[in-house]
Amino acid sequence: MLVTVFLSFLIPIGFIAALVSISVSSAKVEVSADVAEKMLAKRIQKIGSVEIRGAAYEGGTAKQARSGEDVYKAQCSTCHATGAAGAPKLADAGAWGPRIKSGLDALVTSAMKGKGNMPAQGGGDLDDAEVARGVVYLANAGGAKFAEPKPSK
Ligand code: HEC
Repeated sequence: MLVTVFLSFLIPIGFIAALVSISVSSAKVEVSADVAEKMLAKRIQKIGSVEIRGAAYEGGTAKQARSGEDVYKAQCSTCHATGAAGAPKLADAGAWGPRIKSGLDALVTSAMKGKGNMPAQGGGDLDDAEVARGVVYLANAGGAKFAEPKPSK
């Protein structure tokens, strides 16, 4: 009788102890994997942020990373979406055709320096490559097939 009682306590306790030790050891493995991941992430991040600042970021903003469409939406759509101030509208091939014939350089120069009712850079504070990409976006929507300029160095 005593032995039975003793065993009926001991066996479940031994079982629980075994379970606990299993879960503890697996938790330990998880923790160390987690830590290793964080250390790895830190290392990757350090290298990555240096590269990003050098290549695409300026003063913490993604200025040079803006595409022609982004530039258009941010700076050019005010006039070119509606034809305000007599601007040739986006995707209006009739209005863009003759302008496209004068060539990309001439169009970029107009956008950089201003033309007629259009202020220089469309009134924005953009870098040259962004203006050029905005021009390409507008001109291509109007029927041109210009290649989008690469980001400036
Ligand atoms: C304040 C209104 C306004 C804004 C903003 C504006 N434009 Fe214009 N844009 C015009 C007008 C008006 C014309 C027509 C000028 C003319 O031929 O007299 C024009 C013409 C152009 C032309 C044709 C130039 C040529 O030589 O025929 C291009 C290219 C152009 N815009 C690009 C842009 C780009 C890129 C932006 C944004 C960075 C922009 N515009 C923002 C009003 C604007």
